[in-house]
Amino acid sequence: MFKIAVAGTGYVGLVAGVCFAEVGHHVTCVDMDERKVNTMKAGVSPIYETGLEELMQKNDKLGRIHYTTDYRTAYRDADAIFIGVGTPEQPDGSADLSYIATVARQIAESVEKDCLVVVKSTVPVGTNDKVEQFIQDFLIHDVKIEVASNPEFLAQGSAVYDTLHAERIIIGTESKWAEEILTQIYEPFHLPIVSVNRRSAEMIKYASNDFLALKISYMNDIANLCELVGADIQDVAKGMSYDERIGSKFLNAGIGFGGSCFPKDTKALDYMARQHGYELKTVKAAIDVNKEQKTLLYKKASSRLITFHGLKVAVLGLTFKPGTDDLRESASLENVPLLLDQGAEIFAYDPVGAENFSKVFPEGKNRKGTIIYVSDIEQALDGANVCFIFTEWGEIKAVTPERYMQLMKTPLVYDGRNIYSIKDMQEAGVEYHSIGRKPTIREGLKETKTLELQNT
Ligand code: UDX
Repeated sequence: MFKIAVAGTGYVGLVAGVCFAEVGHHVTCVDMDERKVNTMKAGVSPIYETGLEELMQKNDKLGRIHYTTDYRTAYRDADAIFIGVGTPEQPDGSADLSYIATVARQIAESVEKDCLVVVKSTVPVGTNDKVEQFIQDFLIHDVKIEVASNPEFLAQGSAVYDTLHAERIIIGTESKWAEEILTQIYEPFHLPIVSVNRRSAEMIKYASNDFLALKISYMNDIANLCELVGADIQDVAKGMSYDERIGSKFLNAGIGFGGSCFPKDTKALDYMARQHGYELKTVKAAIDVNKEQKTLLYKKASSRLITFHGLKVAVLGLTFKPGTDDLRESASLENVPLLLDQGAEIFAYDPVGAENFSKVFPEGKNRKGTIIYVSDIEQALDGANVCFIFTEWGEIKAVTPERYMQLMKTPLVYDGRNIYSIKDMQEAGVEYHSIGRKPTIREGLKETKTLELQNT
């Protein structure tokens, strides 16, 4: 078993560290945030991720995982140091590599024995060559250092499962020595290993993520056309999915992709291509479609209602997807300010994301409207004039069409995740607008309630 240090305890670093400990390695997780380190030492996960805290506590008891801010001690005699720090997007779309550079410098100053440095963070192709050179330049002790690329494909919400049951492990190395160490580290996982050179590994990460982003944007594009020509995107996706070359996953149309990866990685690859004088037209299209898609529900509702001023608006779901408290690039972040600017009185519900959201949009009077966070979906719907669904949480899917009828003042629902069947909503009497499907127009609502809405 190996002595492993992990730099950064975000989704990538912490999950990797805990999973390495779980298969028997001795792991030290390093983070410069002392408060975060103390939280982890107490067995508490700083991120919401199914199963993570249990594994942290289990491996802590077994003495296989430690947390520290003291990088020197952690890196000094490590066999391998995994870097899992963030590479946030800069205003021009490029990746900010300053955290990687800081860690590389710390590694160079600390290592006292031969060590493999493994970059898990998503970095532009060619970065790891530079990281290796950088570490060599600043090395204090006469030791052998090599940098390998080992991109991460975990999805938030299922990060631990995805790591322990990954479909493939990509290792990008430039020597047999590095390849062997990484292969041995991953051996206890019993997963397929794809061994390539460093630059190919870096590119595999972008090419995979951007392909999935493209798949989603393609379906959203087709969904918008479905609405115009009277087709149903869910039936279309079902029909497509039987073709194994297309596959059945990531065909769900909606209000666009969010999260920490797809938006950032599409822009970074587009930027990288431009840097090389190449225009990556497909990825650019995925970005453009996604941008439009994010506010589609708001645009649909705006054309239906004269104003949101004074209307009680139920917002169900704030996170970029279920199973996480992460709000990064979520549709709610774009739609809520538009509604507030129109004077809406928002009642927002999310099982775990409300606290983070309230840091961006504090409760009470906000812009020209108000926002109240409720812990009960029915409280959000009670007396509401219009409801927006941004995230397909199980709790939200469990609300029956009849409950919208019973609770809302005007049963007008805009669903960005296509969670209901058109037939069920129609039979219940709800006016229901979704993505890529025919809306159900409630005649009574159209004639009387619209007036009521507009006069509120
Ligand atoms: C993604 C990749 O799945 C993962 O492999 C990579 O390492 C990081 O990026 P993540 O961002 O956690 O993971 O979430 P994912 O489940 O892939 O969803 C991303 C976004 O796409 C969400 O906003 C989701 O709602 C949206 N999505 C996904 C769709 O709109 N339609 C789909 O069919 C699938």
